[in-house]
Amino acid sequence: MRSAALRKQLQRPQRLVAPTSFAINHTRTMAAQVPAKFNINTALPLNSGYQIPVLGYGVYQTPAAECEKATLHAFRTGYRHVDSARAYRNEQPCADAIRNSGLKREEIFFTSKVPPRSMGYEAAKKSIESSFYQTGLDYIDLYLIHSPYGGKEARCGAWKALAEAQKAGKIRSIGVSNYGVHHLDELEDYIKTSGVGGTIDVGQWELHPWLPRNDIVEWARKRNVVIEAYCPIVRGERADEPVLKALTEKHGKTWAQILLRWSLQKGFVPLVKSVTPSRIEENAAIFDFELDKEDMKALDFPDSYVPCSWDPTTSHD
Ligand SMILES: NC(=O)c1ccc[n+]([C@@H]2O[C@H](COP(=O)([O-])OP(=O)(O)OC[C@H]3O[C@@H](n4cnc5c(N)ncnc54)[C@H](OP(=O)(O)O)[C@@H]3O)[C@@H](O)[C@H]2O)c1
Repeated sequence: MRSAALRKQLQRPQRLVAPTSFAINHTRTMAAQVPAKFNINTALPLNSGYQIPVLGYGVYQTPAAECEKATLHAFRTGYRHVDSARAYRNEQPCADAIRNSGLKREEIFFTSKVPPRSMGYEAAKKSIESSFYQTGLDYIDLYLIHSPYGGKEARCGAWKALAEAQKAGKIRSIGVSNYGVHHLDELEDYIKTSGVGGTIDVGQWELHPWLPRNDIVEWARKRNVVIEAYCPIVRGERADEPVLKALTEKHGKTWAQILLRWSLQKGFVPLVKSVTPSRIEENAAIFDFELDKEDMKALDFPDSYVPCSWDPTTSHD
């Protein structure tokens, strides 16, 4: 049940937010450039003028009942970036964790997404409104289109809803997830010709050594679109790969830490999920070692294409 104070807050008109820098004193660097040194406070600049913390905490499949506790543990560990979605049904416990963390709102970067069933202008607008209603937040840092399903009109309509919410200051940065190069080209053309505005600030894809998506990565890099990597540890499915065994021995780090470090050094923003306190900590302890050129080469499989999740990038509706 919502408190009277929260209901009142939700009824207030949304505050206009000028694009200023991310509140923490993050190390600033170019989006397309791989920073030489990282720490958990490193942030990458976005086309919107805001910044995004380089390590994200994912909550897909985190049950709502466990989500606030796990997210609070992530905050205590040092994560300042939470990746949720309408479809995950846990935006509210994420927002509760933000409120109960003792941190300032501006210190945390929170993402949600338009669900596949809410594509199109009106439905996407409702999705955004519902996120505000459920979370009680004044603004959302990043809102993505979760997947490109639904056809061109629906994709463009959803973008228009995001661009309007961004202009109104409710959403700071906008972007897409699971878009193939053909979807990205379509969106770029729509932005150029429609006048609805918005820049693609972030793109989110399944990315790891066995799914490097070099075509999409190149498209995004050319436009300074920050690249988020989901399933960065391949849901544990590659834990026994010999290459990971060799690198864990060389660096004294776990296979999960090796994969997360690979992601950071590729210039991605890895979004890693765990509800297990010790793993939440393990996955953040990736800033005290470095993979060298040979290590990165050993993890380079340019022709591999093995998703462990869904793959809407190949859809053609
Ligand atoms: N845009 C999209 O379509 C999309 C799709 C999928 C995911 N995502 C985002 O990306 C995030 C991460 O993806 P994901 O959750 O699918 O996969 P993932 O982060 O690659 O793997 C998560 C799984 O690995 C386990 N795990 C975590 N850390 C571990 C460690 N150090 N050692 C061993 N096992 C470990 C977790 O178990 P426990 O939790 O039990 O510890 C969980 O089962 C999601 O939460 C979501 O935010 C986005």
